[in-house]
Amino acid sequence: MQVIHTIAELRRHLAHFDAPAFVPTMGNLHDGHLALVRQAKPLGDVTVASIFVNRLQFLPHEDFDTYPRTLAADCDKLAAEGCDVVFAPTEQELYPEPQGFKVQPPAALADMLEGHYRPGFFTGVSTVVMKLFQIVFGQSKQGGHAVFGKKDYQQLMVIRQMVRQFALPVTIHGGEIVRAEDGLALSSRNGYLSPQERIEAAQLSRALQALAAQTLAAGSDGQAAEQRAVKALAERGWQVDYLTVRRREDLQPPTAADLQSGRLVALGAARLGRTRLIDNWEF
Ligand code: PAJ
Repeated sequence: MQVIHTIAELRRHLAHFDAPAFVPTMGNLHDGHLALVRQAKPLGDVTVASIFVNRLQFLPHEDFDTYPRTLAADCDKLAAEGCDVVFAPTEQELYPEPQGFKVQPPAALADMLEGHYRPGFFTGVSTVVMKLFQIVFGQSKQGGHAVFGKKDYQQLMVIRQMVRQFALPVTIHGGEIVRAEDGLALSSRNGYLSPQERIEAAQLSRALQALAAQTLAAGSDGQAAEQRAVKALAERGWQVDYLTVRRREDLQPPTAADLQSGRLVALGAARLGRTRLIDNWEF
């Protein structure tokens, strides 16, 4: 496995391949990331993972400085999965000058849910993913494939729409959420949890499943079910940003007809102590 730190060297290396399969990450890899690498491997003729903690997608009060950086261990894990190339640029390499040009996603998709609580987040994500795509796919003759986890459900939708609207030669694949035995979605941020908080953390996925079940129950009032779900987590000591049921296709609130036809997703974000967790449940 090659570990490459510069854009020029990555481009030289990838010039020998037709169609990369790419998994962008911020590192501190767990089995959720590695499952995406496994999914990517058969899609292209070279498997590339990137590791870059992207300052553009953090708000000033968020955890950019303390975000876990574990490059050596990450490379060991990627090598064991048969990843071919790790692209791990420095900040100076990826942003040698202030990144004045940005990719601004449409407000209708990016200003709600995560975007509401983390203003600018999806602009930061879209900008770095566009730049990484230019670097990874820029010299490939037939474009390629990129895999994103459903754990970040809205992010996956933003990237799909970006690729469609800019006609990028990249096929986007969604990877299923990898969970711990108690249902907690794996996340680099789970490492911030105290042992007690780690036990409590499984309640987020349970709350989403319960919300899904109540939404489907005959005669349910969706809004009341959401309010009950928020209250129940708050009473356990969580600070809830949102727990809500949306249509999978556009993340808008479902109509009565949507409730009959299925294709819904319950999405949630909440803080336990200083740790903000997100999760979702398709139903
Ligand atoms: P990061 O949080 O490191 O996640 C990298 C990829 O792993 C994302 O596509 C995310 O959805 C996926 N992922 C994380 N936990 C997962 C789990 N438990 N199961 C399945 N997939 C999981 O998302 C980012 O980084 C950044 O925003 C990035 C796209 C790299 C841009 O900076």
